[in-house]
Amino acid sequence: MLLDFSALPARDVYQWMTHTILPRPIAWVSTVSREGKTNLAPFSFFQGVTSNPPTLLFIPVNTREGAKKDTLRNIEQVPEFVVNLVSGELAAQMNQTAALLPYGESEFEAFGIASLPSQRVRPLRVAAAPVSFECTLHQIVPVGEGPLAANVVFGRIHLAHVNDATLGANGLPDAGLLDLVGRLGGNAYTRTTERFELKRPDR
Ligand SMILES: Cc1cc2nc3c(=O)[nH]c(=O)nc-3n(C[C@H](O)[C@H](O)[C@H](O)COP(=O)(O)O)c2cc1C
Repeated sequence: MLLDFSALPARDVYQWMTHTILPRPIAWVSTVSREGKTNLAPFSFFQGVTSNPPTLLFIPVNTREGAKKDTLRNIEQVPEFVVNLVSGELAAQMNQTAALLPYGESEFEAFGIASLPSQRVRPLRVAAAPVSFECTLHQIVPVGEGPLAANVVFGRIHLAHVNDATLGANGLPDAGLLDLVGRLGGNAYTRTTERFELKRPDR
């Protein structure tokens, strides 16, 4: 089949994109409002950008009504955030935090998610996350306008908290020990416990 995205409604395009661009890593993003209200939400439009300078991005998409997500509103007020990674044992709690709570209501409190203070930024980090990146805002790049339009959030990574229990023999995190979850289409997920290796060409 052939799909012409310019002829499809944005909601249908979203379904085709999220059922084809996969698996997607999940950024579980912690932010704080000017008044100090904490917020936590998952985003699977998430990637590393470069190590020089250490940079990542994630993408809050406007609601179907065209409203900004709480995460974006907070970052516009306090330009700092923590990206927590999500292991299999945290998947259910992560999913709970995708609930549309009223602005200012904390997912940490609503779902009893244990937190720890961060060192360089104001937002909290998720205590049980295998990895947490403390970030400051680098840039917000808007893409489109209105319902389902996006704001690409680029963050400069300052600190990475890594659970030592996830380290492999080479001193780096092992995908199996991390046991991260990736998002597929709809309600489906995958895990990094299944993998295979390919040797890179010599030249
Ligand atoms: C696994 C998962 C991945 C998600 N990825 C995104 C995403 O990339 N962008 C987005 O705007 N919403 C995404 N969502 C939905 C948001 O998490 C949801 O709208 C949430 O309520 C936003 O919270 P906030 O308003 O507190 O920022 C995702 C939800 C789940 C469960």
